[in-house]
Amino acid sequence: MVKPSVFVTRRWPAAVEAKLAETYDLQLNTGDTPLSPAELRETLGKYDAVLPTVTDRFTAEALDVKSAQTRILGNYGVGYSHICEASARDLGLTVTNTPDVLSECTADIAMTLLLMVARRAGEGERELRAGNWTGWCPTHLIGTKVSGKVLGIIGYGRIGQEMARRAHHGFGMQVVVYNRSPIAPEVLARNNATQVDSIDALLPMCDFVSLHCPGGATNRHLINSRRLDLMKPDAFLINTARGEVIDEWALTQSLMYGLIGGAALDVFDGEPRINPDLMQCDNLVMLPHLGSATKEAREAMGFRVLDNLSDFFAGRDPRDRVI
Ligand code: 8YV
Repeated sequence: MVKPSVFVTRRWPAAVEAKLAETYDLQLNTGDTPLSPAELRETLGKYDAVLPTVTDRFTAEALDVKSAQTRILGNYGVGYSHICEASARDLGLTVTNTPDVLSECTADIAMTLLLMVARRAGEGERELRAGNWTGWCPTHLIGTKVSGKVLGIIGYGRIGQEMARRAHHGFGMQVVVYNRSPIAPEVLARNNATQVDSIDALLPMCDFVSLHCPGGATNRHLINSRRLDLMKPDAFLINTARGEVIDEWALTQSLMYGLIGGAALDVFDGEPRINPDLMQCDNLVMLPHLGSATKEAREAMGFRVLDNLSDFFAGRDPRDRVI
């Protein structure tokens, strides 16, 4: 039997690449650099499956082909706002993602960021490495206590729930949730969480706000100047979701004028380009999109894509089909 041809746009963990090579007629992007829209378009004419990541912008332009050999985009990652849904549907593509397997590690990074910004860990490390630490002092780099505070979670899916679990059971935080659809009472009860009806109602209640909603056009600039103004003046904003969810210009204004306590970001609008104004904000912690960056999560994500491919090529509906 002829093996389906599969193109992987970036290098994946060796164990997953080995399994892919056993099962499929595999082509890797050995250069491991993001592909241009033209290069992405070219892959659609050549391979039965293309396996993209967040760095492959399958925009309407990149998906603008008359017909495609590709039948499935097996996305490596849970977020897929880099794939234009309407164009993928027009081409009859199946799109799958990799939920569950990265929820704990992504929530770990969200909690890392929350602690770092509250306790001024980024500022402290920058000071020490620059050789500017003059020694212990009672008033040096005084931060904010985390335990027992109110955490607002926007988007109570798998990652949001993992964040709530850490915050409630680990740090005794009170959890308030905004989610588009109602959350079952027993799911809220696991973390003693309360659901509110709107983001505007949630923001003024919180000492910390953590974003766990999808990106894409619907949620672009969900957090804008007006909503930043609804936050308490000493509250902190954490983003491990997608960069476009925050209006970064509005955020820099809030940070520079001290209208909120601080922010911590793992994702950026137009990443890896970083808005230069963000670089000027001391009360901001930034990480280079590390949410799922553990050996365990990245391998599990790869094997989850393999599961989706085997279902698809065996004629079954893949469990993680999103389009
Ligand atoms: C992934 C992520 O590493 O899964 C996601 O949506 O944001 C990251 O943790 C990335 O998307 C890989 O494509």
